Amino acid sequence: MARGQLLQILIITSLNLISLSSQQETRFVYENFTSQENLHLDASAKVLLPSGLLQLTNNSDYQMGRAFHKKPIQFTSFSTHFVCALVPKPGVEPGHGLTFLVSASLDFSNAQATRYLGAFNASVTHAIAVELDTIWNPEFNDIKGGNGHVGIDVTNPISIAVAQPSYYSKGRNVSLSLLSRNSTQVWVDYDGSMLNVSLAPLDVKKPSLPLLSQRINFSDVFPNRSKLFVGFSAATGNAVSDQYILWWSFSTSKGGSSLQRLDISKLPQVPLPKPLPTVHPKAPHKKLPQWIIIMIVCVAVVVLAVLAGVYVHRRKKFSEVSETWEKEFDAHRFSYKSLYKATKGFSKDEFLGKGESRPTMEQVVLYLNQNLPLPDFSPYTLGIGTFAPVLVDAASLVVSSASWSWSAPSMSSSSANHSPYAYQATDQPWGQTLETKNSLHIAAESEKPKTQSFSSAVKTVTLPEEDLESNLSRISSQR
Ligand SMILES: *[C@@H]1O[C@H](CO)[C@@H](O)[C@H](O)[C@H]1NC(C)=O
Ligand SMILES: *[C@@H]1O[C@H](CO)[C@@H](O)[C@H](O)[C@H]1NC(C)=O
Ligand SMILES: *[C@@H]1O[C@H](CO)[C@@H](O)[C@H](O)[C@H]1NC(C)=O
Ligand SMILES: *[C@@H]1O[C@H](CO)[C@@H](O)[C@H](O)[C@H]1NC(C)=O
Ligand SMILES: *[C@@H]1O[C@H](CO)[C@@H](O)[C@H](O)[C@H]1NC(C)=O
Ligand SMILES: *[C@@H]1O[C@H](CO)[C@@H](O)[C@H](O)[C@H]1NC(C)=O
Ligand SMILES: *[C@@H]1O[C@H](CO)[C@@H](O)[C@H](O)[C@H]1NC(C)=O
Ligand SMILES: *[C@@H]1O[C@H](CO)[C@@H](O)[C@H](O)[C@H]1NC(C)=O
Repeated sequence: MARGQLLQILIITSLNLISLSSQQETRFVYENFTSQENLHLDASAKVLLPSGLLQLTNNSDYQMGRAFHKKPIQFTSFSTHFVCALVPKPGVEPGHGLTFLVSASLDFSNAQATRYLGAFNASVTHAIAVELDTIWNPEFNDIKGGNGHVGIDVTNPISIAVAQPSYYSKGRNVSLSLLSRNSTQVWVDYDGSMLNVSLAPLDVKKPSLPLLSQRINFSDVFPNRSKLFVGFSAATGNAVSDQYILWWSFSTSKGGSSLQRLDISKLPQVPLPKPLPTVHPKAPHKKLPQWIIIMIVCVAVVVLAVLAGVYVHRRKKFSEVSETWEKEFDAHRFSYKSLYKATKGFSKDEFLGKGESRPTMEQVVLYLNQNLPLPDFSPYTLGIGTFAPVLVDAASLVVSSASWSWSAPSMSSSSANHSPYAYQATDQPWGQTLETKNSLHIAAESEKPKTQSFSSAVKTVTLPEEDLESNLSRISSQR
């Protein structure tokens, strides 16, 4: 009797064990995705190495990617916890989003990108999705908001439950953004009738109240519940993001008590998005070969040196030698530069005054140097008299590289002895008793040879400088 009872108990226990094993908990965790033996990667989904980050889509347009745990799972309830990151591309609308997917099949060849999130198409798909969507599609019952939205989709992309991304913390509704580069924790729990969804930033514990709580009968969606697949999908369109799964824990037990704990210190790093495409137009400029840059610099240096040389030469050529006594005549003093211009560089072909018997420049210089007598001309020779006062105040004249100079006797008005060099010059053939304070400085170019002779041909000096001309006309009118 006792034996029979014991046998009965043994049989019952073993039957219970068998039934337990048939409903055994399925549990797995992906601390990273470096080991891909249990992973089914589809379309653009790939694992970035060495970090082991699961990238569902990069930020190229019209991408979709899916990743599933390869082994089919039989369940009446489940709990899952994952960490995702939607990384917008700078300057481009971020989109479209990612989903946690429960599907009867791994065949998604009919699924579409953009608002279908790589999970659905326009007709029925045997799948249930929890969507983290960043694009507002009102026809899919989405809600508007700058942070994106969270929804529950059954067999099609139309959300049967939707909410702004947020979480309860200490009785407060705290919003969070799906569009920041921050990683987000997501919990999805199903107890056989209710599907709950919670969200939180990385550093926050699972909220006590879910964001979404929706009654769903999985049997309506999956007539054969002995073989279901769980995983993720994501898509881009004109709106793009890098869309990642960093960590994933799953269990068929209720309540998620047997889920692996998340250690955020071990999470793989999410890479920064590639730089703005607007940087590209600048790129060719940066790629200028080094030799071109060196050549440009050399040319610039040579041009600068030439300009500096010309400047120094001109400064030297037109530099003024002024003596103390000249100061009081400053207002009526002609600069060497204006005289140089007026006489076309003291050209040997230029002459002073107008009319027939005018002295050449050379003759004047020689006379002042007391080497030769000036040619015979009258103070009333047309043009000559006018220019006499201009000439007689010449203080020094350098004619050759030997740089000899002389002090010319200054001739000024008899009535005004303004300078120490001034003297009565009425006995000079070309001396004039003129009320003038003009002085003249003649400094011939030093490179001109001493022996250079001035021709005796008679030509007219043209004096373009306005003040010089007005001075001269004033002088003649005073005559
Ligand atoms: C994005 O992924 C697709 C598919 O894997 C690939 O063809 C494309 O070159 C990638 N784009 C970038 C910018 O990496
Ligand atoms: C990936 O996770 C495994 C444990 O699941 C760990 O041993 C390994 O170091 C991780 N690899 C990286 C790159 O973090
Ligand atoms: C949508 O996908 C399902 C399979 O998931 C397929 O049977 C159906 O024909 C597709 N419909 C469209 C409009 O592509
Ligand atoms: C917080 O408030 C938003 C907007 O009112 C709402 O959509 C969301 O469901 C709330 N969050 C929670 C956790 O209830
Ligand atoms: C990202 O996370 C950090 C730390 O949790 C937080 O301080 C910051 O405000 C978050 N950024 C956004 C845009 O949500
Ligand atoms: C879902 O959330 C409700 C509270 O909104 C809770 O009563 C229920 O137990 C939760 N179910 C699961 C499976 O977490
Ligand atoms: C779910 O639906 C199936 C048939 O589709 C039905 O037999 C079952 O009772 C339903 N379960 C609940 C909890 O409503
Ligand atoms: C359910 O799926 C399993 C595994 O593919 C199969 O053996 C079984 O026959 C299916 N049941 C029905 C009712 O389709």
